[in-house]
Amino acid sequence: MIVICGSSSRDLAKELAMILDCKFILASSTRFPDGECYTRIEGESLNDEVVIVQNTYPDHNIIEMLLLQDAAKRMGAKKITLVIPYFGYARQDRIFKPGEPESAKVMATHLGLACDRVITIDIHKEAVLRNFKCPAKDLKASGAIADYFKDKGINLVLAPDAGAAGRAKDIGERMGLPYDHLEKVRLSGTEVRIAPAKADCMNKNILIVDDIIATGGTIMAATTQLKEAGAKSVSVACTHGVFTGDAIQRLTGNQIDALLCCNTLESKVSNISVARTVADELRTGSKRKGLLRKN
Ligand code: R5P
Repeated sequence: MIVICGSSSRDLAKELAMILDCKFILASSTRFPDGECYTRIEGESLNDEVVIVQNTYPDHNIIEMLLLQDAAKRMGAKKITLVIPYFGYARQDRIFKPGEPESAKVMATHLGLACDRVITIDIHKEAVLRNFKCPAKDLKASGAIADYFKDKGINLVLAPDAGAAGRAKDIGERMGLPYDHLEKVRLSGTEVRIAPAKADCMNKNILIVDDIIATGGTIMAATTQLKEAGAKSVSVACTHGVFTGDAIQRLTGNQIDALLCCNTLESKVSNISVARTVADELRTGSKRKGLLRKN
């Protein structure tokens, strides 16, 4: 097996290759003077199972992902697995207003044309995977997040909205802690309203868990509620730290006691690694087909 990495999630890809004890290739990627993407996988031929690790965010990474698949195929890749740590556009998974595209479906349909298998991590809506023409599986970061926080004195795990309730349950159960979710109403792209928590927050060390932090509006509103309800500390963990603008500074310089995310998207707070989760899936999938071997 060979792990090939594009411009994104490089730490995750390197760690993945290390755990799997297989060859790692960092594809070179530059821009032509007109801004078009140029990418190249160094070497003569691949002649092995290839794993391409690349996000579909920001937009230019989508182009790079398509080009890398073509290059890998031309170099003789026996099988191509796409590991998409952060699947961008998954939140537009249906038509909210007439005239809109079903963006998540468009992405899945086109990205999956030249590959044999797709692995995502905490994709916003799992149903999106049905649009891939090849087998596609979503892995959960809950185990990695629960492990990270297991000795941090947390008393209660909360999701900021009903959509993340399953995540709070999974992490709460893994940590042997109570869990619940808050009720959120989205007012605009940057503003949300969160109702007071039903759970008793007084003097509790609370962990809020979500799949994505983008503007940070959801997490700020949830934290404010919990602190008003007497929480002793509020730690925040998400899988994908998109962090638009100065979101990290705004969140860390505020009422939040700890802010962590996974290494699907790299930032200064992406200290929770999902490499082992991905490696386990690749190992079991390849063992079934007898493809894993050291290079
Ligand atoms: C929404 O359904 C997601 O799970 C996140 O809660 C949301 O994307 C976070 O966005 P923001 O940080 O902009 O509030």
